[in-house]
Amino acid sequence: MNYYNLFKNIAFRLDPELAHNQSLSLLSKFPKQSSKLFKSMRRISDFDLEKYDLSLTLNDGNFWTFPVGLAAGLDKNAEAIDFFTRIPFGAVEVGTVTPKAQIGNPKPRMFRLIEEESLLNRMGFNNQGMNEIYENVVKAKRNGKVVGVNLGKNKITPADKACEDYQILFKKFKETANYIVINVSSPNTPGLRDLQNIEALREIFSALSPLRNEEAPPLYLKIAPDLSFEDIPGIVQLAHDFNLAGILATNTTIMPEKGQGGISGKLLKERATKMRKHVLEVIGSGSSLEMIGIGGISNSEDLFSFWKMGGKVAQIYTSFIYQGPQILFDMEAEIVDLLKRNDMTRLMDLFENREKVRF
Ligand SMILES: Cc1cc2nc3c(=O)[nH]c(=O)nc-3n(C[C@H](O)[C@H](O)[C@H](O)COP(=O)(O)O)c2cc1C
Repeated sequence: MNYYNLFKNIAFRLDPELAHNQSLSLLSKFPKQSSKLFKSMRRISDFDLEKYDLSLTLNDGNFWTFPVGLAAGLDKNAEAIDFFTRIPFGAVEVGTVTPKAQIGNPKPRMFRLIEEESLLNRMGFNNQGMNEIYENVVKAKRNGKVVGVNLGKNKITPADKACEDYQILFKKFKETANYIVINVSSPNTPGLRDLQNIEALREIFSALSPLRNEEAPPLYLKIAPDLSFEDIPGIVQLAHDFNLAGILATNTTIMPEKGQGGISGKLLKERATKMRKHVLEVIGSGSSLEMIGIGGISNSEDLFSFWKMGGKVAQIYTSFIYQGPQILFDMEAEIVDLLKRNDMTRLMDLFENREKVRF
């Protein structure tokens, strides 16, 4: 029984943002026992589940129980970490968090493009601000999962003061986040994407350097799919220079013909895939930089094509809205099939023998 389809029938009749907020408020109160509801979605037996190990340890030291995590923006205020970490997500990224609470752009600002299994949003970092979100992250149980925190600047902060926002946020979350993402790639905060130029990025990461002691969490940069390929070598160099853990590719894209805002889901897939491929090529083999692949990933085929090009862990947002938790159970079963096909039991082994894998 796919309970999500029942739920979606109702939710998709509501305004997208209202449905989103109601769902999160419901999920934040979801009792622990109710995750049993999802057991019937699992396509593999408990026996197989025990035999196959789908966990991965990244170069950043984090242990993902499953190679797919929840992308930023769905649980902006860290309200439902306990729910999202009870379903098979390997990691959950909350935020974008800004220092001060902000209301974001005028509504309506979230739209479903149902036929294209895509979304258009111009939310503009609406969030409850770092103090409230910090409390939510600290009190979450996490269920042994990785929790990342995605940081952004307030709209009212001028570009030349952006570093200060990122410093304040980094200090706030450095002891509680398992990893931190610097987000300069949302199309919905005026001027934010200009911070993706190398000088601006250098300023941000230089400002964070003194705060990054031994215990500080791994630091990532999230990029837009609309950067020029020529910008990538500079960004990868910067990632090495500042000892970043890796790059998240990608955020939403802009398609003015679809309306103002960021496009995610299937419409984004081609651009995001090209950008991921290019960044991975520039990173090359033998580097410890990780890539968290995001953008238009909606089934195990998409995940495997990311693996073929050298990626390891991915995140999803839009496909989760369209398919619900079933997408994770489908991916789980199809990854186990892939391992079976290759006479392997550990996903880690698959990445160690990538050239020989029969996808
Ligand atoms: C409604 C909505 C809000 C989002 N908010 C954020 C955000 O606050 N911070 C961020 O880094 N990405 C945000 N994203 C982008 C996603 O994290 C992701 O990069 C993008 O949607 C592409 O992945 P997908 O095709 O799987 O959705 C948002 C996406 C959507 C659809």
